[in-house]
Amino acid sequence: MPDSPNVMRGVNPYHVQLTEEKINNKEHRDAVGGLWEELGTLQLNFLKKEGLLPTHNLLDMGCGSLRGGVKFVEYLDNNKYFGLDINQSLLDAGKIELANAGLENKTVNLANSNCFDASQFSVQFDCAVAISLFTHLSVNFIVQCLERVKSVLAEDGKFYATFFVVNSKDEFFSSVIQKPGEIKTSHYTDPFHYDLAIIQLMADYAGLSLDYIGDWHHPRNQKMCCFSIK
Ligand SMILES: C[S@@+](CC[C@H](N)C(=O)[O-])C[C@H]1O[C@@H](n2cnc3c(N)ncnc32)[C@H](O)[C@@H]1O
Repeated sequence: MPDSPNVMRGVNPYHVQLTEEKINNKEHRDAVGGLWEELGTLQLNFLKKEGLLPTHNLLDMGCGSLRGGVKFVEYLDNNKYFGLDINQSLLDAGKIELANAGLENKTVNLANSNCFDASQFSVQFDCAVAISLFTHLSVNFIVQCLERVKSVLAEDGKFYATFFVVNSKDEFFSSVIQKPGEIKTSHYTDPFHYDLAIIQLMADYAGLSLDYIGDWHHPRNQKMCCFSIK
C-alpha cells in the first residue's frame, strides 16, 4: 500500500502503510520498536501492578500492531480491550498477531483514527495507556490526545503514558542520548523529549492531574506518567 496523506506526515513516520509482504515478514514488530515479547510483557505487568483487573475496560491509545495488545487481550475478559491507532496496516498486522496467539475467538475492538477519537467506542474506560506514543508526538498533538482521553475516562480512571524525559531547560534545547537504549532525542523532531514542566503544562491544558511515576524498567529509558481527572 502506498503512503497515505495523514496528519503525522512531517511529525513521525507512521503515515507510511506496511505492505502485506512486510507484514508477512513480521516487519510490523520492528515498526513499533521491536523488543516484542519484552515490551509486551512489561506493559501488562506494569498495569497489573497498578491495579488493572480482567473486568476493566482498557483503552490502548496508539496500540500499533498490538505488542502490548496481545498480552492485554489474553489477560482481560472478553470485549474489554479497545485499541486505537492512526496506521491501519499496523492494526491489520495486530489482528494477525492475535490469531497467531490463539486469541481469534476473543472479542476485541480496534479502530483507526487520526484525531485520538476514542469516543467512537462509546465506552467509559477504567484505564488507558499510551506506550511509546508521546515519544513520537509534538506538544499540540499530545494535548489533543490528553483532552480526548479525558473525555472517555471514568471518574476514577487513570491514563498511563510514557515520555522521554530530560531534567533541565538546557537539556531540553539539546540533543540527548537516552541511557539505557542509546536513543537520541530532541525537542524539535521524532523521537521527542520533554521536561516535567512542559508535561505539567500539557496536563493543565487538558484539565488533568499529573503523577510522575518515572522509572518502570523500560529498556530504552522511557519514563512513565499517570494522568487522572482532577
Ligand atoms: C512505537 S509504536 C508503539 C505501539 C504500541 N503502543 C506498542 O507499545 O507496541 C507508536 C504507535 O503510535 C501510533 N501513532 C503515531 N502517531 C499517532 C497518532 N497521531 N494517533 C494515533 N496513533 C499514532 C503509530 O502508528 C504506532 O503504532
